[in-house]
Amino acid sequence: MPHIVFTAQMSTGIESIDADHRGLVDVINELTDNIESHAHAVRVENTLAALISYAHDHFHREEKLMLQCRYGGLRQHMDDHHQFSLQVYELQRRYVLEPQTVELVEVRDFLGAWLTHHILETDMAYVQAVLKRPSGKAERLRQ
Ligand SMILES: [Fe+2]
Repeated sequence: MPHIVFTAQMSTGIESIDADHRGLVDVINELTDNIESHAHAVRVENTLAALISYAHDHFHREEKLMLQCRYGGLRQHMDDHHQFSLQVYELQRRYVLEPQTVELVEVRDFLGAWLTHHILETDMAYVQAVLKRPSGKAERLRQ
């Protein structure tokens, strides 16, 4: 099962956001490693908890940036984050309470596909808004 690779195409050019995205890619790759090594359930639970925590912090940082930039697509973008968070919470709940109902390979594929698509499509849309603003450069540096 291949690891997700953070490509140049996925770079927003905003240092803190790229660092977060790399971190999220790393956690999903950790889940792949868990699967391949048939890791103990506690280890998988820790990986899912790390993903939730990391995603929470990252979404907050991104939403703050979009608000600072008066980004018009903020509401929809927040909805996407919220929807994803609910899905991952539900996967975590099922993995802990009803593990027989969770296929980790499918979880990993869902997470990888969501993150890649979200970065390339949804995140890149606000990056343009940041760059278009006259003060965009200063705001990028403050993040
Ligand atoms: Fe986002």
